[in-house]
Amino acid sequence: MRRKLAAGNWKMNGLRAGLSEMQALAEAHATPTVDILLCPPATLIAPARVTLGGSPIALGGQDCHAETSGAFTGDVSAEMLKDAGARAVILGHSERRDLHRETSEEVRLKANRAQAAGLMTVICLGESAFQREATNTLDIIGAQLSLSVPDSSTGENLVVAYEPIWAIGSGQVPSPEQIGEVHTFMRARLEHRFGSGVGRSVRLLYGGSVKGENAAEIFSIPDVDGALVGGASLKAADFSPIVTALEEA
Ligand code: PGA
Repeated sequence: MRRKLAAGNWKMNGLRAGLSEMQALAEAHATPTVDILLCPPATLIAPARVTLGGSPIALGGQDCHAETSGAFTGDVSAEMLKDAGARAVILGHSERRDLHRETSEEVRLKANRAQAAGLMTVICLGESAFQREATNTLDIIGAQLSLSVPDSSTGENLVVAYEPIWAIGSGQVPSPEQIGEVHTFMRARLEHRFGSGVGRSVRLLYGGSVKGENAAEIFSIPDVDGALVGGASLKAADFSPIVTALEEA
């Protein structure tokens, strides 16, 4: 059985004052029956670990470098995230792929390093609106999946998030059929590559405009094991109903 996962991506939002939202979330979900992961800006990981105390809520980074250390001004390594208290890292988010020109090959190298450092990698992929119109979405997803996911992946250290770029921050959500088609496809590809044991144990998240109002419907789709949430993860009052919907799914 895959344990469901509610993951929040704060992106470049949040100062120390915002840690009160994490505290409120921890209080509302003291003994969750699903995994909860929050990925604040790297500057907040260490103070957030203190704020969360013994809460089962895990923390993650939003990106890392493919090297352990060195002359890479402005970058953060997987080891540094781990040292600050992170258990996971988001990699290959479409904002990194788009605004920082990250390729799937680079994502794989980063994921390789992060997994070696003992972090769970949440690897993101998804098609643009143009790609959905112009080509076969499953071809795009298949290529991103095989190139971005490293061979060292297991059910413990890999989570894949399907995030159609056109659904991120737009309020537009694909139909349950569209989400189901991609998730079933990703599951089959992972089982083919890693064998059915590992392939069936990797958690698959949906991401893009997930809110309290649409969460239950999204979580009822087969092979959707949770969500990667952006905007609605910033406030405990918005994220908490999503966590509850996942617990009830
Ligand atoms: P959103 O972002 O929930 O604000 O659409 C999702 C994401 O980018 O992970």
